[in-house]
Amino acid sequence: METTTEVANLFTPIEVGPLSLRNRMAMAPMTRSRAMLDGTPTAMMADYYAQRAGAGLIVSEGVNISAEAQGFIHVPGIFTDAHTSAWRKVTERVHAQNCAFVMQLWHTGRIGHPDNMGGGLHPVAPSALAHDRTVVTPSGLQPAPVPREMTDQDIRRTIDDYAQASRRAIAAGCDGVEIHAANGYLPGQFLHESTNLREDAWGGDLERRARFLIESARACAEAVGSQRVAVRITPFSVFNGARSEDDSAVYRYLVPALGELGLLYLHVVTAEVAGNQTVVRTDGDDVRDVVGFTRALWPGTLMAAGGYDRRKADEEIRTGRADMVAFGRDFIGNPDLPERLAKGHPLTERRPADWYGAAETGYTDYPSFDPRQ
Ligand SMILES: Cc1cc2nc3c(=O)[nH]c(=O)nc-3n(C[C@H](O)[C@H](O)[C@H](O)COP(=O)(O)O)c2cc1C
Repeated sequence: METTTEVANLFTPIEVGPLSLRNRMAMAPMTRSRAMLDGTPTAMMADYYAQRAGAGLIVSEGVNISAEAQGFIHVPGIFTDAHTSAWRKVTERVHAQNCAFVMQLWHTGRIGHPDNMGGGLHPVAPSALAHDRTVVTPSGLQPAPVPREMTDQDIRRTIDDYAQASRRAIAAGCDGVEIHAANGYLPGQFLHESTNLREDAWGGDLERRARFLIESARACAEAVGSQRVAVRITPFSVFNGARSEDDSAVYRYLVPALGELGLLYLHVVTAEVAGNQTVVRTDGDDVRDVVGFTRALWPGTLMAAGGYDRRKADEEIRTGRADMVAFGRDFIGNPDLPERLAKGHPLTERRPADWYGAAETGYTDYPSFDPRQ
């Protein structure tokens, strides 16, 4: 009998930990700033995610693990009973369509503003160093303030907040959680030299700078099981000013250490993008192969994101450089992105003006592909 070896592509099913996914396509985490002011997800958010449930797996937008974690307004939370029950409505809609749902756990650290937080709170970080960027607040753009340096007790409480948020996420029906350790937010601020000047158990050398993230991942794993916990990282990115002189040494230590925890997957972002934008390159720029670098260090399932189209995604999966590929910006305007990519249908033009905030416009009002148009 003749046997054929099937070559995997974006639409080949995959087992990831306890999850059986119908394809290898994920929706990347994207902040859309449409939650209620107290962080409760809305019915419109459930519609938005349900419209995009053709993916094998959806990673939610960044979700605040505590009131203190909140840097931006209208970002959802997972630290009250109201949050938990409202997220349950989202996960039920997504699961009804055979799509897995992982919640991204976010703490913005120094990237935030007191005006965006509950009464009396102030952004906290490993060290009292401000970033020279501005933050959108109800009264317009304001400079990010100098954060309050966290005490040892603050740090331990925050690690516990991650664990507690994981428990709530699972109670809300999520298949797992993804710790947002990308893009220079709190875990990245601990990890890197430019943002962590501590000399205690949480800073000073690489092992101690990495400890916050590793301990947070371990606490989540102990709370909900290691196969329900993932991590997202952005090696070599300087977004939000978190960097180290030898970034490659940082991730050569961190990635295998996370690997020992037996997590659900590692999510890595290519050098094609910084935050939510394509990096503009000039000829001769030395562009890092972030996926290849990470693959060599990571023993488990690897998800890649950042500037992918169908061809590039198939190539990553065919060659085994990545097991899954996440799509971000194209999922905003194309709720039926998996179908469009499978059939080669054209994609809707991106409209960045609608990405954050406001209502249905640019959120739930994008139609699926209509061949008659
Ligand atoms: C509107 C918007 C919001 C985003 N919010 C997040 C976020 O909350 N967490 C995160 O890790 N990445 C966030 N990202 C980055 C995306 O997850 C993704 O890495 C990036 O868009 C590159 O993928 P793409 O080229 O497929 O768009 C955001 C991107 C966009 C466009």
